[in-house]
Amino acid sequence: MVKVGIVGGTGYTGVELLRLLAQHPQAEVAVITSRSEAGLAVADMYPNLRGHYDGLAFSVPDVKTLAACDVVFFATPHGVAHALAGELLAAGTKVIDLSADFRLQDADEWAKWYGQPHGAPELLKDAVYGLPEVNREQIRQARLIAVPGCYPTATQLGFLPLLEAGIADASRLIADCKSGVSGAGRGAAVGSLFCEAGESMKAYAVKGHRHLPEITQGLRRAAGGDVGLTFVPHLTPMIRGIHSTLYATVADTSVDLQALFEKRYADEPFVDVMPTGSHPETRSVRGANVCRIAVHRPQDGDLVVVLSVIDNLVKGASGQAVQNLNILFGLDERMGLSHAGLLP
Ligand SMILES: NC(=O)c1ccc[n+]([C@@H]2O[C@H](COP(=O)([O-])OP(=O)(O)OC[C@H]3O[C@@H](n4cnc5c(N)ncnc54)[C@H](OP(=O)(O)O)[C@@H]3O)[C@@H](O)[C@H]2O)c1
Repeated sequence: MVKVGIVGGTGYTGVELLRLLAQHPQAEVAVITSRSEAGLAVADMYPNLRGHYDGLAFSVPDVKTLAACDVVFFATPHGVAHALAGELLAAGTKVIDLSADFRLQDADEWAKWYGQPHGAPELLKDAVYGLPEVNREQIRQARLIAVPGCYPTATQLGFLPLLEAGIADASRLIADCKSGVSGAGRGAAVGSLFCEAGESMKAYAVKGHRHLPEITQGLRRAAGGDVGLTFVPHLTPMIRGIHSTLYATVADTSVDLQALFEKRYADEPFVDVMPTGSHPETRSVRGANVCRIAVHRPQDGDLVVVLSVIDNLVKGASGQAVQNLNILFGLDERMGLSHAGLLP
């Protein structure tokens, strides 16, 4: 049994970790923290978990208690893992961070986008970007995992086959992405209110979103050089889901794109390349650790359109974090993650 601690258990990614780990045969949640709900039983806050975590209550984060775990997930705002990860790693506890703290390899770049100095630049050399479809072998050996963000997961998985094969113009990529409101977390904010986000859709952060440098870092590696990306996120009136519509031009229109994508992801348990002409829906991945992809070339032209959908809380956060746990501890990568999405 892997003994698990979770820092930030009351947020959306925290409760999603609890939902997924409740079905995991080899993981046991021993510690779950919340400063605001310390003392409250987990099932009293989240009745969907009644019967799964009897006796488990939220506690104030305490490094000594957390260090007794084999692995600690951080489901917290940025900056928290910077402060605590070092002590945990020194105690031999592995860290899987769902926040952005260790996703960017350049500490100055991180400081620029997050508006504060990087809190643990000395740990960056140990941090592995937890996208299994790219870094599976490094994840196996790691002790500190930076779980990719939700937009970055859907967008990178959609672009990777084109860039790795060197067939797309990497200087003019476009990612037009839509997110459900749970992507903003559970904290009270006017923009997340039902009357503000319902029955409306809007773009935001067109000038530059914090996920831009993360996506660019991954695409640069896939392309083996510089990339030019325009990334436009949108807020849509759904609770869960990311839909990325990706555009790239290709010089050679004779390449069989369907075969290229199918081959790239043939051995990937959590990437589903749909048949030619498909239009994946976010509701088909709701609750499931799956990225569902379709590739199109409208009117047989040189513009490729890739459609990529995930559940932001599962393949975009907590499911991918559990996938990383499975790889880190030598378990079957699909353990606890093989359920289908919720429909309707
Ligand atoms: N929501 C998504 O779809 C999504 C997807 C991918 C990645 N992420 C990332 O995952 C992280 C968590 O996101 P979320 O949406 O679950 O956030 P959230 O709903 O706002 O929850 C944040 C959690 O962190 C705890 N927390 C806040 N400040 C803390 C501190 N200083 N020390 C210890 N605990 C603290 C909170 O509990 P207390 O305040 O009671 O301690 C709460 O449980 C974020 O970094 C986010 O960017 C989110």
